[in-house]
Amino acid sequence: MYQFGRTRKAEDLAVKGTNEFVVYLKTYIALRRNKPQDDLISLLIAAETDGQTLSEDELISTCILILNAGHEATVHALGNGVKAILEEGIDARSLLSDIARGERLVEELLRFDAPLHLFTRYVLEDLEWQGISLKKGDEIGLMLGAANRDPVRFVDTDRLDPSREPNPQQSFGGGFHFCVGAPLVRLEMRVALKVLFDRLPNLRLSSTPLYRDVYHFHGLERLDVKF
Ligand code: HEM
Repeated sequence: MYQFGRTRKAEDLAVKGTNEFVVYLKTYIALRRNKPQDDLISLLIAAETDGQTLSEDELISTCILILNAGHEATVHALGNGVKAILEEGIDARSLLSDIARGERLVEELLRFDAPLHLFTRYVLEDLEWQGISLKKGDEIGLMLGAANRDPVRFVDTDRLDPSREPNPQQSFGGGFHFCVGAPLVRLEMRVALKVLFDRLPNLRLSSTPLYRDVYHFHGLERLDVKF
């Protein structure tokens, strides 16, 4: 769904994959319904608000959302982060040895090269906003990557500054749909980058990194390194 020039064949394969995954999840949900375990799906089955629980379809779409939302953006956050650290010559090993400095580095990596550049919204009613007329049903692109380089919000916006503070980066969106996984990603990035740079202190680029030609996600096709 996030690719240019996709083919009917690719779409059919995607639908086939989705249908097979739905069958797998139905079996898995039935297993957990009968015998709950200490896991997220058992918690989702048991979750109840005002006497209502999630239907099977809602459980399935929630699992797919969490799995997909939780996977690819994190992959790109790590890839883009390693690229930025190596290109800018940042001493990540030393920064990550301290929790507070490591947290600031991760925040700045997320700002500097956002793994998701674009989310969209639909206009619910005709309105004028800052001199722009919007019609019900219009689709608006929220450019998170550009917001992260907004010179009004950030000093020296094109510079990777690992000690930047405050850092109101927008890579997790904002408001009602703010990323549910943000605390997990922040932890994952700090831990994973620390392990990487502790184990491979001589990590360096061996060729120019190549971005993937896609929209929405913003990540690398290849990141060739030596160590
Ligand atoms: C670096 C990694 C990640 C980035 C950059 C990211 C970014 C975002 C953004 C920008 C949104 C807002 C979408 C919108 O406004 O329409 C979002 C929503 C969401 N994210 Fe993440 N995300 C990441 C990782 C994760 C992880 C690890 C999980 C789950 C384990 C996750 C789960 C979700 C979910 C469920 C939503 C929807 C929240 C809602 O609509 O209320 N994300 N994410």
